[in-house]
Amino acid sequence: PHAGSGDTWAKIILFGEHSVVYGHPALALPLRSLRMHAQVRPAAGVPMLRSLDYRGELAASGRRFACLRRAVDVALERVGQPHARLDIETVSDFPPERGMGSSAASAGAVIRAVLGAFGVSASPAELFELTQQAEQVAHGQPSGLDAAVTAAQGPVRFESGRMELVQMKLDAHLVVADSGIRGSTRVAVTGVRERYEREPGAVGELLADLGGLARQALRDVAEGNVHPLGEAMNHAQQLLTSLGVSHERLDVLNDAAIRAGALGAKLTGGGLGGCVISLAPTARIAQQVRSALTGAGAVATWIHPLQPVEVTA
Ligand code: MEV
Repeated sequence: PHAGSGDTWAKIILFGEHSVVYGHPALALPLRSLRMHAQVRPAAGVPMLRSLDYRGELAASGRRFACLRRAVDVALERVGQPHARLDIETVSDFPPERGMGSSAASAGAVIRAVLGAFGVSASPAELFELTQQAEQVAHGQPSGLDAAVTAAQGPVRFESGRMELVQMKLDAHLVVADSGIRGSTRVAVTGVRERYEREPGAVGELLADLGGLARQALRDVAEGNVHPLGEAMNHAQQLLTSLGVSHERLDVLNDAAIRAGALGAKLTGGGLGGCVISLAPTARIAQQVRSALTGAGAVATWIHPLQPVEVTA
């Protein structure tokens, strides 16, 4: 092999986290200003991993990197070199375990890098499939949303394993704020599953309502209805709280965003910590919202302009 590299992006779920696992639609987008970059090279000795917070033998990298190790394995199997030894390096513009899709993004980037090192190309569908195989180690039953969005070209609708790019007429700003609290998607998804098994009727209804909000949101982004979208975000946050995946620190951040002029705010991703997103109608209000979020304790914030997206068939 030669050296190889691969890139993916952070993802933000606007609507449909958790309910997407139960077959309801979701609306999500890649944040293409926040990149995950992976590089691989032939290992001189024992394969090593270098990442933001780990530097050592790949095999000893622990549970948090299980998904990444699996990504290396599935990619090596794909290129027909299951015993090849590679050093891996990942460089990320965004933190892990904050609902931004870091595990799927790193798996996707590593898979692309390994394939590149062996000069093997794969279709987007095949890359998605390989990333999903790696994600299964991290989450157990991932919907595939993270694997799809971290490699997508723009905003997507995702439902039952299928993704399509969506039209967006919106002119607004998304403000993303990191609570600094780690939230494990695996723990959150398991918690929802247990609740669902205990109370299928009530929890099924919450999940269906979340799916309904995602459907409505898909229409609103296509038509450019910013205000209803904000209200739907607040409603989704209430439903996610009832599902048991929010956190009191997230409520504090959401309240601060709303008081500063955001039209709506909610958690994004698996929850139990991680990030919140809020919708600001103008760049000026987005700056106010960002300051308010920082004042309320956010450890990092990002402003992402939501611009009209044309999708041609
Ligand atoms: C995690 O980013 C999104 C969840 O819906 C899990 C999944 O879709 O697999 C919570």
